[in-house]
Amino acid sequence: MKTPIRVAVTGAAGQIGYSLLFRIASGAMFGPEQPVILHLIEIEPALPALNGVVMELQDCAFPLLKGIVATADLNAGFKDVNWALLVGSVPRKQGMERKDLLSINGKIFTGQGKAIAANAAKDVRIFVVGNPCNTNCLIAMNNAKSIPSDRWFAMTMLDQNRAVTQLAMKAGVDTTEVKNLAIWGNHSSTMYPDYFNAKIGGKPATEVIKHEIWFKDTFIPTVQQRGAAIIKARGLSSAASAANAVVDTVRNLVNPTPAGTCFSVGVCSDGSYGIEKGLIYSFPIVSDGKNWKIVQGVEINEFSREKMTATENELKEEKAMVAELL
Ligand code: NAI
Repeated sequence: MKTPIRVAVTGAAGQIGYSLLFRIASGAMFGPEQPVILHLIEIEPALPALNGVVMELQDCAFPLLKGIVATADLNAGFKDVNWALLVGSVPRKQGMERKDLLSINGKIFTGQGKAIAANAAKDVRIFVVGNPCNTNCLIAMNNAKSIPSDRWFAMTMLDQNRAVTQLAMKAGVDTTEVKNLAIWGNHSSTMYPDYFNAKIGGKPATEVIKHEIWFKDTFIPTVQQRGAAIIKARGLSSAASAANAVVDTVRNLVNPTPAGTCFSVGVCSDGSYGIEKGLIYSFPIVSDGKNWKIVQGVEINEFSREKMTATENELKEEKAMVAELL
């Protein structure tokens, strides 16, 4: 039997945690042959609730789940982990400015970055989901300089999945027909779902859906505002779909990307497409199962460039707001 992978999940007693943990333990993330040990990290007040989650995980008798560590101690939580899924963060409350949120969460991610660097396995990869995820990832990365920058990721797969479904519904096709829908930039309302380079049934999306106004006035705002629409409808933020996107992203990174396709994830910019080096920016990515790279040569027209710059500018602003934490 394979050696178990140790997977840390912060915010494990939260909404996303409740959907995510069971899918990891069932094999949906690392495959049916790969055993896992879950490291569940929470803040002290949430430990009783976390204990309930642990009991439910035990009650599933998952064949692949070889152990559970449940703790509020970051050193124990990140000890020898191969993956750190940083989901927990403090939600924005009424009257809170973006700057306040960045600063509160920034402190969480400095501590977690340091604890990961001090405790995790040599091959650790870190995937930040807690918002604002790009900048939280930037903060953690800059507080863990011994870990190479290509091991850090921030989630934009939920935006990609949302965009794919919108295109599939409009074209009246199965979601599997939609490929290469890249999300550029920040996981926020400025992110840009690049429909110009998306394919539907192998053809450019703009040839299949000949409705320019729809793309600009309906598609982009629908994808950008989907999180808010779900909060309005459900009274709670997206959780099962977010957990699903976490599973999709890790699976995409640990498996070879099918030829001619790509997926979206925030990574440390190397200056590709003129995006400021060092920002955590979402690009179209391919993986060989171990290493990933940014897809080069994607055509960028004037409209795309404007959108890509707007979301880059927002990330630069966020970076400036947390400068003292970097
Ligand atoms: P939630 O509020 O239900 O759960 C968050 C959990 O994190 C709570 O149990 C809380 O006790 C815990 N937590 C807070 N500070 C912590 C710390 N320092 N260490 C460990 N745990 C801590 O929130 P939910 O719905 O699970 O969402 C989690 C995060 O994911 C939020 O920031 C949300 O905005 C973000 N999110 C990101 C998405 C993306 O696409 N990148 C999509 C959806 C949500």
